[in-house]
This record gives sequence, C-alpha cells and structure tokens, in this order.
Amino acid sequence: MKALILSGGKGTRLRPITHTSAKQLLPVANKPILFYAIEAIRDSGIRDIGIIVGDTAEEVRNAVSDGRRFGVEVTYIQQDEPLGLAHAVLIARDFLKDEPFVMYLGDNLIKGGITGLVEQFKQQSPNSQILLAHVRNPSQFGVAELRDSQVVRLEEKPASPKSDLALVGVYMFDKNIHAAVRAIRPSKRGELEITDAIQWLIDNDLRVLPHIVTGWWKDTGRLEDMLEANRMMLDTYETDVRGDVDEHSRVEFKVVVEKGAVVRHSTIRGPAAIGSGAKIINSYIGPFTSISSDTQIINSEIEHSIILENCLIEDVGIKIEDSLVGRNAEVKRLNEKPRVYRLLLGDNSKVGLP
Ligand code: G1P
Repeated sequence: MKALILSGGKGTRLRPITHTSAKQLLPVANKPILFYAIEAIRDSGIRDIGIIVGDTAEEVRNAVSDGRRFGVEVTYIQQDEPLGLAHAVLIARDFLKDEPFVMYLGDNLIKGGITGLVEQFKQQSPNSQILLAHVRNPSQFGVAELRDSQVVRLEEKPASPKSDLALVGVYMFDKNIHAAVRAIRPSKRGELEITDAIQWLIDNDLRVLPHIVTGWWKDTGRLEDMLEANRMMLDTYETDVRGDVDEHSRVEFKVVVEKGAVVRHSTIRGPAAIGSGAKIINSYIGPFTSISSDTQIINSEIEHSIILENCLIEDVGIKIEDSLVGRNAEVKRLNEKPRVYRLLLGDNSKVGLP
C-alpha cells in the first residue's frame, strides 16, 4: 500500500500566517501538523509516501526532505494550481500506479493514528473506505448520508446537510478511484472534489465502506481549531524538563522544556511546551501554550496560545490569550511618550485590544 499526503492549498482562513508559510507546517505542541500525518502513516506500516505540494513546495521539502528521518521514502508531486483533492489523485497517477493507497489531508489530525483503519481496509478490501465524524457544523465539510449503515449520498459543503456526518480527511482507495477522478467535472467552486469522485464509485456499484470515528479528530483550518488541536496534543505529553530552569522558577503539571531553553524567575503551568533556545524571563506561561524555539518571552503573561519561532514578547502589561503569533513577530511595550499603539501588521492580521 502507498500513501498520498496533500500539502498544497492556500490556508486562507489562517491568514496572515499562511501568506508566508504552509498551513500544514504550523506547529501543534511544537511539532508541524504534517509530521503527525507522516508518523501515523509510517506507524500503519506504509513506507512509500507521495506528498502533493503547491505554492509552499520549497518549505515543505525543506521540512520533510526525503523522509528518511521518519523512516519513510517521500516522492514530491507538484500541483501547480489548487484544483481540488480529486485533481491531486489525477496528477499522482504515475506515483500511485494500481496500488491501493491512503489519502491523508495534511492539515487533519487524528488522535490514535490510522493503523487499525488500514488493517480493516486490507482485511475487508472494499473499493474505498471513508471516515466519518459527527460534527456540529456539517455544512463546512463533505457530508455523508447513510442508510442501513451504507453510504448512499455524499455532498460537498451542502447548504442544507442531510446528516451531521462529516467526511474526515483520511480516505482509502483501490485503483477504481482513477476512473472516478477522470469521470467527474469541476464543482461550483471550480475544484475536482474527492467527494464527487467517491459518489461516482457509489453510483457505479463499487463498495464504499464507512467508518465512524469516535475518537478526537480535527481539520485545523481555523485559529480555534489550531488552539484546540494544541490543547489536545499538549495534554498527551508527560513532564520532561531538559532545559535550564533556575531555582526562582516554578514548573507545574505537564510541561516540556526542551534542551537549550532557559527559564528564569518564571512560572510555567502546563500542559505547555517550550522549544529549544527559547527564553522565558520573569514571565508566566499558562496552560495549553506552545512556545516555539528561539522565542523570547520577557516580563509577560501568555496562556492558551501558540507562539512560533524567534518571536519577542516583552513587557506586555495584559495577559495574552487565544493567540497564534507567526515567526519573528515582536510585541512589546514602547515605554515612550506619547502613549500610542505602533503597528506594522501583515495583510489580514487581527489585533484584539482590551
Ligand atoms: C476537505 C474536503 C471535505 C472534508 C474536509 C475534511 O475540505 O473537501 O469533504 O470534509 O476536507 O477536513 P477543505 O478543508 O478542503 O475545505
């Protein structure tokens, strides 16, 4: 079996961060989301992974390289325009050949991996296996209608959903999907939808096996989802302090402080993770916070947030919460008169003031 990970797309809902960076490389608990997908696939026994890349190809290649350090072999497949998930299958034809494969959307996170699902697919060998999850906002997903536990109808982002069962971004296919992706036409949003390709399988009497996911799953497309994913993953960590924490600091509950990080006169209340080379000085890092490597937090308080690499947060008088801060960003008190806000923000930035 092979795997195809989709790591293109524009990540519009996470702008401005995704103006300059691939959404699949945003960190959850200080690890890029994409790495969780690669590891889940590897753990299921699959070694041969194709990664579909778009505008952010270079960044993805730099991060994953040939895959050897994950114990897999990666082939990159360029998608010049985001023409849809089924289009990704179309252009991966030479890589996939006639082998069955797992298709994994690189911004999806599934707790507990996919090993059991891959086993089930191998044992029952349907033409496709899809994962479904009950959600509160089905019209933001592909939606499945089941009858007697069989999939009868799939619809991409319907205005009036027929059920609350969303398509999770992990699919399994045999070679029949290639005929399906060739047969379908672009949707209203101009994309070749994998949802329509699976409907084509159903319409042609091929067997599509539904599996309802009961564990935790997230499509990390929006800020709230990123923060929830970060909460969930941090909570699975055990305390592991390898950095340099002075005797004036307190580290409480589940906290990871990587080697090379420095903590002085501060409190870190987990679940939280502090990356290598980070400096936490005279500050409070509260639950569900990830501080990436080389970021400095000085005289400030942060909770329930994700701060990326090489930022400086200094002398901020009010606690920072529910925030996602991109690389190399600076937030600091000016200590000058007149007292003003001085902003240099990227397109689509959001600032919440007290
Ligand atoms: C895609 C699929 C959708 C699926 C979702 C899962 O949507 O088109 O059917 O439910 O992934 O994450 P997108 O995230 O591209 O809007």
